[in-house]
Amino acid sequence: LKILVLNGPNLNMLGRREPDKYGTRTLKDIMQSLTQSAVNLNVELSHFQSNSEAELIEHIHAQYERVDCIIFNPAAFTHTSIALRDALLSVSIPFYEVHLSNVYAREPFRHKSYFSDVAQGVICGLGALGYEAALMAAVAKLRKQDN
Ligand code: DQA
Repeated sequence: LKILVLNGPNLNMLGRREPDKYGTRTLKDIMQSLTQSAVNLNVELSHFQSNSEAELIEHIHAQYERVDCIIFNPAAFTHTSIALRDALLSVSIPFYEVHLSNVYAREPFRHKSYFSDVAQGVICGLGALGYEAALMAAVAKLRKQDN
């Protein structure tokens, strides 16, 4: 199985960025733990972070028939980007939406997502564990489809 983890804008600042909301772990640290979990699950994990909507879109297009699933934290683009939603639909790759913080306990503008209704699942408020939960859910679902 091949799974891509995609992280959107400002997530490269994790560790320094509003630690009360996003925790003190860096993105590198979170992705290292996730990579170890993927190894244990016998899954090939790749990771890409960008602050640019265009780069994220192009990276999604490049995954066509290359990965089985995407774990995506679109960050602020969650609340704004029809283009990223359309990019995911254009490659027909199932994806899980992950947010570190509980977006529903925050400002009303974070309550709207352009992804949730087309995601396999949505995880928020679990911190970095959300990525691990998404990985476990993705693998369980994909392996059942293999039978
Ligand atoms: C976030 C929540 C978004 O509202 C915010 O813009 C982010 C991070 C999260 O992981 O909690 O950048 O996606």
